[in-house]
Amino acid sequence: MRLNDKVAVVTGSASGIGRAIADRFVAEGATIVVADFNAEGIERTVEEIRAAGGTATGQCFDVSDREAVHDATRQIVERHGRIDILVNNAGISRYRPFATMSSEDWDIVLAVDLKGVFFCAQAAAPYMVERGYGRMINISSALGTGATPHGTAGSPGGSSAYAAAKAAVIMLTKTLAREVGPANVTVNCVAPGTFLTPMSATTRTPEQVQEHLDHRKKTVVLNRIGSLDELVAPILFFASDDCSYVTGHTIHVDGGRFDRM
Ligand SMILES: NC(=O)c1ccc[n+]([C@@H]2O[C@H](COP(=O)([O-])OP(=O)(O)OC[C@H]3O[C@@H](n4cnc5c(N)ncnc54)[C@H](O)[C@@H]3O)[C@@H](O)[C@H]2O)c1
Repeated sequence: MRLNDKVAVVTGSASGIGRAIADRFVAEGATIVVADFNAEGIERTVEEIRAAGGTATGQCFDVSDREAVHDATRQIVERHGRIDILVNNAGISRYRPFATMSSEDWDIVLAVDLKGVFFCAQAAAPYMVERGYGRMINISSALGTGATPHGTAGSPGGSSAYAAAKAAVIMLTKTLAREVGPANVTVNCVAPGTFLTPMSATTRTPEQVQEHLDHRKKTVVLNRIGSLDELVAPILFFASDDCSYVTGHTIHVDGGRFDRM
């Protein structure tokens, strides 16, 4: 088991990609903190992980609330003694045409998808630095590097705020890696392409989801949609001791998207 005795905080793990990360980390021996702002989802996830024989606790907070993040991080360390791994996965999207996007929509996307990563990393880093060990993994997106067309192919609106936040997460990963590297804390990033999760559906009708998946299959080198297991594999690598000499990197797990290559 690659994460034996590790304490891993996964934000946004009451759903989708975060949940898949939590399940895999538990299978690799980690104790998981299900960190989310969906209290019901946390309760369900923790129960299911425990029922399957894993170790998990829940922590309910909003990643975009600085004080709440620092309080929650303190409580997690009091409860588990340390944080070995932090996955900054919580995220939202608001696909809107740029010309008519409101500043509220812009602000909330930047607050959760970028500031949330900053706050969680800032809160956890001192504990990792003090112990001289840590693994941080930030979740960006294929939209952080490739301006994919929106308003077509089952992708409504536009992605300016989301893409700006996700591009910034890649750069934040590099700068943070520099600052905490001397204390043996690695910081890496995974940029997923298209994966079927509740997020795919909240911004689209069922017909648009299908149209989007069909379009995406034709616009990646590997010619198919990836599974969550395939997405989690490199996240597990970054979280493990195999990643002792890799930091500041972004891996694109997107099947070879045409708008990146
Ligand atoms: N699904 C995809 O195809 C895809 C592609 C690229 C990147 N991503 C990124 O992967 C991450 C996970 O996406 P997903 O598809 O699993 O989405 P999802 O909507 O299924 O899950 C997101 C989780 O984050 C939580 N969350 C949202 N805002 C929060 C906040 N302010 N504080 C705490 N928790 C909050 C939600 O409650 C939910 O449990 C996101 O960062 C997303 O941008 C997803």
